[in-house]
Amino acid sequence: MAFIIAVDGPAASGKGTVASRLAALYGYPMLDTGLLYRAVGVRLLEAGGDLDDATAAEAAARGLDLAELEKAQVRTRAAGEAASRVAVHPGVRAALFDLQRGFTLREPGSVIDGRDIGTVIAPEAPAKLFVTARPEVRADRRWKQLLGQGETVAYDEILADIRKRDERDGGRASAPMTQAPDAVLLDTSEMTIQQAFDAARRIVETARARSGDLPG
Ligand code: C5P
Repeated sequence: MAFIIAVDGPAASGKGTVASRLAALYGYPMLDTGLLYRAVGVRLLEAGGDLDDATAAEAAARGLDLAELEKAQVRTRAAGEAASRVAVHPGVRAALFDLQRGFTLREPGSVIDGRDIGTVIAPEAPAKLFVTARPEVRADRRWKQLLGQGETVAYDEILADIRKRDERDGGRASAPMTQAPDAVLLDTSEMTIQQAFDAARRIVETARARSGDLPG
């Protein structure tokens, strides 16, 4: 069976960094599923659509071209906000399901990060992490990242964004962000990137040993 490493958690928790380092370590392909929702949001906004219109959002998701994930716009603050609004629609989630599910079936393994990977997309994943950090720490990281991308924005606004996004992602009816019962919690609030990666690697190695697979 494919060795799926599912990495879930809230915005700017460090999950993307941890996921890409794990992918490099094991030589596995990686999918950042947040980009899919971001690209759907951007697509809908560019077409002049309404993010709260479930039918239009689902159509945008069904017509998604993977080349759209490469656009710089999908990494903006506005795209993150749009993503979390289109992500509440069950039709959008259903439209993106097969692509994500197919990715997890790749041999010998894969790393996939998002909000519902361990709960909905790959509940059978042998290695599951739920990466988090305090909202203030996450806001500081996201703020610095956006400044680096040339976006001028106040820290307080980012903190408000993060809190609103946590609430929306955790409170929605369809596939809410939640830690799977068998996921290991990794709080990176007081960790450097290297420490977070080392901790994540230990979690994955334990899961590998348990699943009877040899370390790669
Ligand atoms: O991870 P990122 O911040 O790029 O995700 C953007 C938004 O996409 C999240 O706030 C969430 O609403 C949505 N998302 C989701 N399920 C995923 C990945 C992202 O609902 N698996």
